This record gives sequence, C-alpha cells and structure tokens, in this order.
Amino acid sequence: MTGQPIPVIIDCDTGIDDALALLFAVRHPGLDVRAVTCVAGNTDVDGVVRNTLTVLEQAGAGDIPVARGAERPLIEPLRTARHVHGQDGMGDLGLPAPTRRAADVDAVTLLRREILAAPRPVTLIPTAPLTNIALLLRTHPEVVRNIERIVFMGGAVTTGNATPVAEFNVWHDPEAAAVLLTAGVPITMYGLDVFTRVVVPAADVARLRASGEPRLRLAGELLAHRDPASAADPAPTGGLGDAGAVCAVVDPDGLTTEPLPVEVALAPGPTRGQTIVDRRAVPGEAEIHHGARERPLVDVALGVDVERYVSLWLTTVEKA
Ligand code: RIB
Ligand code: CA
Repeated sequence: MTGQPIPVIIDCDTGIDDALALLFAVRHPGLDVRAVTCVAGNTDVDGVVRNTLTVLEQAGAGDIPVARGAERPLIEPLRTARHVHGQDGMGDLGLPAPTRRAADVDAVTLLRREILAAPRPVTLIPTAPLTNIALLLRTHPEVVRNIERIVFMGGAVTTGNATPVAEFNVWHDPEAAAVLLTAGVPITMYGLDVFTRVVVPAADVARLRASGEPRLRLAGELLAHRDPASAADPAPTGGLGDAGAVCAVVDPDGLTTEPLPVEVALAPGPTRGQTIVDRRAVPGEAEIHHGARERPLVDVALGVDVERYVSLWLTTVEKA
C-alpha cells in the first residue's frame, strides 16, 4: 500500500455480511473509517445499531462514531431479512451487548459532518437500503463536493433475490436507490452478479472457527452462517457478501466494470425495485421514435477476481 488511507464511511444494516465488511474495513491500513451509519434493513434500526457497535467492539476498532438512521424506507414499510440473518440480525450467536454507545446525532447529521470535515473526498460504501443516503442527498446536497465515489452493494444485472428481478437493498427502498443513482458523483454498483460469487472456502472458514482469537472465531461463525446449507453442512463455505464491496474500494482492479446506464423500476408490480441495466450496443426503437432518455452512467461490476478478494479479506482480518 502506498499513499494516504482512503477516507470511507460505511452505511449498513448489520447484518451478517455487513459485519464481515466492518471486520475487514477497520483492520485494513489503506482505509480510514471515519464513521458508520445505520439504517433499517436486515433487521430494525435499533438492532442494526446494537450489532454494529458489537462488531466494532469485537474487532477492537478505534473510536469510530456510529449513528442511528432511518427506521423505515421512504415509502415502503420495513421488511426485514431475519429469516437469513437471524432474530437478532446477526446469526443469533449470543454475542454480549456492546459497551460502546451510538453518537448523539442522527445518521444524516453525522454523514454530513464527517463528509464535509474530511481532509480528502470521502468514498461512501452503502451496504444496505439507500434510505439514509437519499435523505442525506436531499437534505444536504452540498456534501457531493467532498464525495469521491459511492461504491454501493445493491442491484443486479441478471437475477434478483428479494424478487426474481430485484435485489434486497434496492427492493427495500426503490425511491432511495433512484435518488442515489442520480447523485451526480461517480458510482460503482457492486450487485448480486458479483456479490454471490465471492465465497471463502470451507477450510478457511473452519480455521477461523477454531481460532483462539474471539474476533476470528466471530468471523468464522458469521461466514458459516452465510451458507444457506450450513445448518446441515459440517464444512460450510461462507460468502463475503457486503465485504466484497469494501474489497472493491481497497482493490478496484479486482473488479471488472463497465460504465452503463442504470435506472430503478419504480412502478408497482413484479418489476418494482429492479435495476434496469442497459447493455445494448446500439439504440433501439424506443430511442429512435421517442428520443434518448437521460440516464446516469454507473460503473457496473460484471466480473470479480474471487481468489483475489478472498485472499485480501482473509489476510487483512487474520493479520495479528
Ligand atoms: O441483497 C444483498 C443484501 O442482502 C446485502 O446487503 C446483505 O446484507 C443481504 O442481507
Ligand atoms: Ca447489508
């Protein structure tokens, strides 16, 4: 690593794989985590705050401010993913309550403060529904002058998870995602197409679970929980999930991206929350007859070097 660490803020809904993202981010010397903001998603926002503080404590992170954000999406009701992340939102591992406390400001206030105070433009890493980010952009649009890039986990070019076509973070708050896409700053979409591919092999998961170090055992248990077959599988693998988006900030060359027009389907019905990524080489009849509509270009992740990101994550998290 050369040069100054990259100032980053993670907006999360911790969340098993958000926890994997935090465990990595706070230990990588190339990142300067200036704040962590919480939003309802995988579980309710108070659970997200608790889980986030717990992970930072277990990771031995420095004094990073954590703030509570939106309790629900802009329009939709709260629809958690506890069936994936457990009743406590973090695998029901029986972790102790954190001794750390959240900041006494809300997430939007903390985001504004830390973005504008940063010595260099900040990279935002949302790994959750985009509600906090949309509220920030609409309340304090001046923040864009000190945002380098937004690398968000969300969306899908091909197949969804919350619905056949929509990924959870975008589906949970489609209007907020639409606001993010038109923020007017460079954006990388780390969608399901790459998210699902970055998986830690079973031998590495087993090594972490057997570690004498509580922080590493936690990482192993979280990874094991990520594997849908883990309950039955004596040797589970573990998807890095959201942590891959943080790897993409540290090591963007591990990702293959293309600048493509992206928009969010907002109409009610089966496509709501879909990220429509235009991969056509030439304009079609719609543009010929009605003219081109303006759609922001987003650096869409289409490929990922899986071994590179798994190795980056493991070496960073396991480093003494
Ligand atoms: O759709 C992927 C998202 O859902 C990620 O943010 C992850 O946390 C999962 O819950
Ligand atoms: Ca998440």
